[in-house]
Amino acid sequence: MFKDQKVSYSGVQPSGNLTIGNYLGAIRNFSEYSEQYKTFYCVVDQHAITVRQVPAELRRRTYETLALYMACGLDPEKNTLYVQSMVHEHAELAWILNCFTMFGELSRMTQFKDKSAKHADNINAGLFTYPTLMAADILLYQTDVVPVGIDQKQHVELCRDIAERFNQLYPGTFTVPQPIIAKHGMKIMSLADPTKKMSKSDENPNAVVYILDDRDSIIRKFKRAVTDSGSEIRYDEEKPGVSNLMTVYSCFTGKTLEEIEREFAGCGYGDFKLAVGEVTADALAPVQNRFAELLADKAYLEAQMKKGAEEASWYARRTLAKVQKKLGFVQL
Ligand code: TRP
Repeated sequence: MFKDQKVSYSGVQPSGNLTIGNYLGAIRNFSEYSEQYKTFYCVVDQHAITVRQVPAELRRRTYETLALYMACGLDPEKNTLYVQSMVHEHAELAWILNCFTMFGELSRMTQFKDKSAKHADNINAGLFTYPTLMAADILLYQTDVVPVGIDQKQHVELCRDIAERFNQLYPGTFTVPQPIIAKHGMKIMSLADPTKKMSKSDENPNAVVYILDDRDSIIRKFKRAVTDSGSEIRYDEEKPGVSNLMTVYSCFTGKTLEEIEREFAGCGYGDFKLAVGEVTADALAPVQNRFAELLADKAYLEAQMKKGAEEASWYARRTLAKVQKKLGFVQL
């Protein structure tokens, strides 16, 4: 579909809040992607309703997610940013792919097993077929690469299996995508338990720093971060607490671990934690200001949503028509 450029596709949930882990591990690097790929970012509101949502909150978070991505540097002129439910081809292709996905495959998805345990009173069919909608998202754009967290790797692998199966029956239909898993060094760990990844759904509010946290909260959370025995500021896998803080400091300042060790030689954990809090708050301030500006201009955000949906539809329509034709649906 794009003769000279590979396609990168990613979906983002309109739920919760993004963390500094999301920012440092993924979002901050998005602008580099748009140099290299034709990039699509989709706010997946249709995936979101696989668990119950309050309509007004879903709507508000859809705007917020779009604004936050833009505030983090995603330029709507260089990337296609859009909302899933505005492009009806996603749901249509998902139905078709459901007919090429096995019950057994979906039953093995760890996210399905986890979410059904967590929402035992609402194990709906959408939760079960969540991965086929995700496969439709990806395959509609003849995607080459899918940058995702490790938790979504299984879904991308299933998407590959579905695409290969479909291509076997109907040759040359879909590009088979590759997952790209975020680099290891950028993984930010929980401040309460540095052996666990920082997760936006963590129940302990002190474990997670959100991109939109105010300065005082950021500094307070870092002050309370769990550190290890000893007092030296030294990177050591045996000391995950201080090592995690050093990673954060390094990511926000661009300093190497050795430079940080030298800078804080002779200082205690208390001083270092305060410094980490301050550089984080300083680095996030411009993102937060831009976010507030964007959110205050709903008309602008809506114009971007409309433009993004039009761009996305153009590609999605072509792939869906190709699939329908291959399947034997009558085309008028
Ligand atoms: N399931 C992904 C998540 O929870 C979101 C998602 C939906 C996605 N569609 C996608 C990610 C397509 C990558 C590509 O994070």
